[in-house]
Amino acid sequence: MRKLNIGLIGAGRMGAFHGETIANRIPNANLYAVADPVPGAAENLLDKLEVAAKTFADPTELIKDENIEAVVIASPARTHACNVLAAINQGKAVFCEKPMAINMEEANRILQAIEGNKNLVQVGFNRRFENGFRSAHEEIVAGKIGTPQLLRSNTRDPKLNRAESIQEWTIFLETLIHDFDTLMYLNPGAKPVEVYAIADALIRPDLKEKGLLDTAVVNIKFDNGAIATADANFQAVYGYDVRAEVFGSEGMLTTGGIRKSNMIRYNKNGASYDTCRYDQDLLFDAYVSELRSFTNSVISNEPTVVNAEDAVWALKIALASIDSVKMNCPIKVGEKTFV
Ligand SMILES: NC(=O)c1ccc[n+]([C@@H]2O[C@H](COP(=O)([O-])OP(=O)(O)OC[C@H]3O[C@@H](n4cnc5c(N)ncnc54)[C@H](O)[C@@H]3O)[C@@H](O)[C@H]2O)c1
Repeated sequence: MRKLNIGLIGAGRMGAFHGETIANRIPNANLYAVADPVPGAAENLLDKLEVAAKTFADPTELIKDENIEAVVIASPARTHACNVLAAINQGKAVFCEKPMAINMEEANRILQAIEGNKNLVQVGFNRRFENGFRSAHEEIVAGKIGTPQLLRSNTRDPKLNRAESIQEWTIFLETLIHDFDTLMYLNPGAKPVEVYAIADALIRPDLKEKGLLDTAVVNIKFDNGAIATADANFQAVYGYDVRAEVFGSEGMLTTGGIRKSNMIRYNKNGASYDTCRYDQDLLFDAYVSELRSFTNSVISNEPTVVNAEDAVWALKIALASIDSVKMNCPIKVGEKTFV
């Protein structure tokens, strides 16, 4: 069996999961190298996985390695675009965690580089690989609920960790970016035209002055008439909560959830069930499936399921949302931004 040599950039929480997936969960993938600038981070991950692979402190050196055919980027969000560009220019296929870029200048440079080099690029919008979300998309494409009229998508993270180190506008650029992509996925073929966003610091009001917004709602108007709402909060005390709903002219679909399993506990207090506390529990299969799909796309030279253009649409909604919060008014998507 042909195995794809993959170089992993970033050996943190997400990089560790992707590294294990590449090494152990995808038969036609090979974890060829890991890069992380923190001394020992790449080596520690490989030790834990019991895998022998090359290590680099500098991601650009990994990208230049001639034996690497594809790069998986799981470094901090604001470092993505330069690694994506470097990898494209070295002729590698790229899987990049969300967001692919954080402004339109970076995004356009990436699109131009792809145009010139014809690389395969996939972005980590894992909900497209989750069974329920994918089934909802397929039902909508098949016309089972008629024309979408109202859509909802939410992300509620379980705990606000390391609040002081969260960068400005993260709730739009790194969290709600998933919901913006989900809404595009569940309203297939439609384009966003206008956004109105409200955001606040309700969990840590003391950090608002420093730019931390932990709660947000975004209304989005699409060119097929549909109206969508995305919301996010960084501290859902009951667990990791990712759901969506599409209401159409012929019915409604709901998907996503919080449950750990279908087990229900009945006792003198009533009935209850356990919830997932980590994204990697709730979306385990989707995380594996997105990298399996990427590996297969590269090996068979087929288009990726979710590409750089999809990432740019989600980014445009995020940038319009930021402008909307700054200006406190609706903003047309794609207008020059103030970010
Ligand atoms: N798809 C999802 O739902 C999801 C969930 C969690 C995280 N993520 C994404 O994964 C990425 C990583 O998040 P994380 O939670 O693993 O963060 P993390 O802080 O745990 O890990 C980041 C790692 O990157 C390393 N690093 C720092 N600067 C670097 C650079 N310039 N080049 C290469 N590596 C560098 C750090 O040393 C660290 O090991 C982020 O982009 C995040 O948005 C996605």
